[in-house]
Amino acid sequence: MIGNKVCFFKSLDSTNSFMKEHLSNYSDGDMICANVQTKGRGRRNNNWISRKGDLHFSFIINNKEKIYSFNVIRMVSNAVCNVLLNYGVDANIKYPNDIVVGNKKITGILIERVIKDDDYFVVGIGINVITKDFDDLNFKATSILLETGDTYDYRDVLMSFINEYNKLLECSDIDLHKNFLKRSVVLGKTIIIENKEYEVTDINYQGLLMLERNGEKTVKQMNEVTLKDYYNES
Ligand code: BTN
Repeated sequence: MIGNKVCFFKSLDSTNSFMKEHLSNYSDGDMICANVQTKGRGRRNNNWISRKGDLHFSFIINNKEKIYSFNVIRMVSNAVCNVLLNYGVDANIKYPNDIVVGNKKITGILIERVIKDDDYFVVGIGINVITKDFDDLNFKATSILLETGDTYDYRDVLMSFINEYNKLLECSDIDLHKNFLKRSVVLGKTIIIENKEYEVTDINYQGLLMLERNGEKTVKQMNEVTLKDYYNES
């Protein structure tokens, strides 16, 4: 269960960095949320620009059962899509863990595994709630406000995430996977890796991409595929 303890900060460099630096102060399911992040981080060392009124938070999962990080991605992506649906936004998952509306990103997820004394995942999520203008990124970013015309409080969106995530803890792996696949835009698409085209035929329970090229099957790991590799996006 997450969200028994939620700490709100006015400003942090990054909720993920802060949680990792103060790990001993937090236990399984604890959350922190910052109104503003001055050094928000994305995957692959990208920056995450954090705008006031959008939602930036992290929580910790104690990885007692030694689950794959894909299990966390699957759970969190489904929970975020359910939250967005609650606000009238029909979002999909761009493998491995971007949440998109059409081809515009509405949520980014950064999952970091920390093995220090124990084994943890620090899960960081940025949901665009009220931003209307993403400057140079307008062509590839969107928000709840832009999609619906309605302004919401980021704390309500956070509460909705806590509820949706905790509800999914009751769901079977089979159902979580089915929903992840149903929402995954990459299935059936052609992607290019090292100048070769592959069709994505499946995503397995470990999060590996099943690919086919000229009748030959191959498997790729999540970190072998970058978003730039996506081809023919619609
Ligand atoms: C990505 O799309 O590359 C992932 C972006 C993750 C952003 C969130 S905002 C809250 C948490 N703190 C961070 O520094 N990053 C994550």
